[in-house]
Amino acid sequence: MSKIGPFFNPVEWVKAYRFHKRNSTFDKSTYDLELYLYSKILNNNMLHWGYFENFVISPDSISLKMVEEAQIKYAENIIEQITDHQHPVLDVGCGMGGLAELMMKQKMNVEVLTPNKNQIQHIRNTLQNLVSHHCKFEQLVSERKYGTVINSESLQYIRLEDAFRKVDEIIMSGGKWIIVDYFRLNETGINKSAHLLKDFEQKLVENNWTKTVERDITPHVLPTIQFANLYFNRFLVPVKHYVYEKLRYKKGWLYYLTTNLRASIDKKITKEEASIDPAQFVNEKKYMFFVLQKNTTTNDSVE
Ligand SMILES: C[S@@+](CC[C@H](N)C(=O)[O-])C[C@H]1O[C@@H](n2cnc3c(N)ncnc32)[C@H](O)[C@@H]1O
Repeated sequence: MSKIGPFFNPVEWVKAYRFHKRNSTFDKSTYDLELYLYSKILNNNMLHWGYFENFVISPDSISLKMVEEAQIKYAENIIEQITDHQHPVLDVGCGMGGLAELMMKQKMNVEVLTPNKNQIQHIRNTLQNLVSHHCKFEQLVSERKYGTVINSESLQYIRLEDAFRKVDEIIMSGGKWIIVDYFRLNETGINKSAHLLKDFEQKLVENNWTKTVERDITPHVLPTIQFANLYFNRFLVPVKHYVYEKLRYKKGWLYYLTTNLRASIDKKITKEEASIDPAQFVNEKKYMFFVLQKNTTTNDSVE
């Protein structure tokens, strides 16, 4: 009875309601649970899907170490594109700071930005010499102009209008904008994360940007998606089944009362699964590597 007592106590109901209100209003960009989860699984401060040079590989022969190596390769591909070593680089949506750390090792002048409070804390604790901005990109206020702006799997979180407007404000004339991210090919599909590629292409034209590099790197990213999908279906889904069944046999009444809750968990799981279904990804999305350069010239000042 003591375990179910709170269900029948009106005071506990009021407390539960207040607790619910306090916890339901959080801004995803400041505390993103999925990104927090990945940061605990992967150990090299990178939160993107990596780049497998050899992509003809069976998912069950992939290890976490191989995913981490692929992430380093992905970061190196970005760094290779930075030709201006004189002016500062801004890593927008820097995650746990892994890319910036690699750049610092190469003595590059880099700054990072993230609205996420766990990420900024981690970066400020581990990379003390790094200039870091704790805000959304669209809210950045900067006198400084950057020679290179990077969006490594972070453009999808920012409205395109806002991203194009802000980059225009902070990039030097002739500067490079490196974007590595996935884009949706059409409106269908249950997982709506990512911009539509055609909207992005349209914004490029409207805002006078030229593509100097354009690569579809989907095949190089797929091994990570296949790996995630494998563990999802061979580990997470069976564990979920185990927990549900355990509840059904040990606490049938609670199992019955939580029917709606379990249905909403299942719905969320189906949505997450869709984002790591390799076949669906290939049908609905493209993972692109862009290097952009602005066509116009402006009067830029550099600090
Ligand atoms: C998938 S992670 C990629 C992290 C990192 N760039 C990497 O490649 O490891 C997405 C990043 O975008 C950041 N982000 C989310 N919303 C943002 C916004 N409005 N402005 C700037 N960054 C944002 C997240 O906090 C996170 O750091």
